[in-house]
Amino acid sequence: MSTNERKTLIAANWKMYKTPDEAVAFIKAFVPLIGKHGHAEVVVCASPTLLPTVVDAARNTPIRVAAQNMHWLDQGAYTGETSPLMLKALGVTHVLIGHSERRQYFNETDESVNLKLKSALAHGLIPIVCVGELLDEREANQTAEVLERQTSIALGGIDPEAAKSLIIAYEPVWAIGTGRTATPEIADDAHKIIRAQIAKSLSPALAASTRILYGGSVKGENTASLCCLQDIDGALVGGASLDPASFASIVANSAA
Ligand code: 13P
Repeated sequence: MSTNERKTLIAANWKMYKTPDEAVAFIKAFVPLIGKHGHAEVVVCASPTLLPTVVDAARNTPIRVAAQNMHWLDQGAYTGETSPLMLKALGVTHVLIGHSERRQYFNETDESVNLKLKSALAHGLIPIVCVGELLDEREANQTAEVLERQTSIALGGIDPEAAKSLIIAYEPVWAIGTGRTATPEIADDAHKIIRAQIAKSLSPALAASTRILYGGSVKGENTASLCCLQDIDGALVGGASLDPASFASIVANSAA
């Protein structure tokens, strides 16, 4: 359960879905559905092609807008990439860093995650850094080691004073898009491991104030059992965030 210090955050990760028209239709339908739920911050992570449209549609609503990735440099000859300056200029407030699909399919490494995190913090973009173990790693009892490695390398060389906006998302890769959600106990244990590593890498105060989201087959029906736990401060939602009613039910049920 989120504390006063850690406000619940529910983030939609739309991945490579939606056209601009579909994105606008979503925001129009979704905003009235969450009107009453001020307990949670709501963020939508959209593809670069949708960002101007979603920022515009979300103006004067409680929704904040995130990119799903960015380069760490301000500019340069990097075809196909998006820089933090470009995101800031659009009115984007948050950025996902190191999502497992980027690690799996686009060679994102712990080291590039660290560079991107430093850049996001330097530019005042709120980073949501994703960590999580593969099924093989869980079955080989390597979960703690993987989470500690991913978290410690991501946070390497970061000044705790500059990291107050940091958000981490624990997304066990075996639970993403599989319908197989981590049990609340598995998720809570993983969040405790990550929080302990933040304490070591940054400071105990930062560990206490950093929000850690759970992601992996989150739906309206399993949100309350996850969000009621002490170390789970919200959710990062893929498939179930594409439909306004389904995503709104997750926001409503996170008020545990
Ligand atoms: P699903 O909710 O579709 O399992 O995706 C989780 C995810 O990857 C969010 O970033």
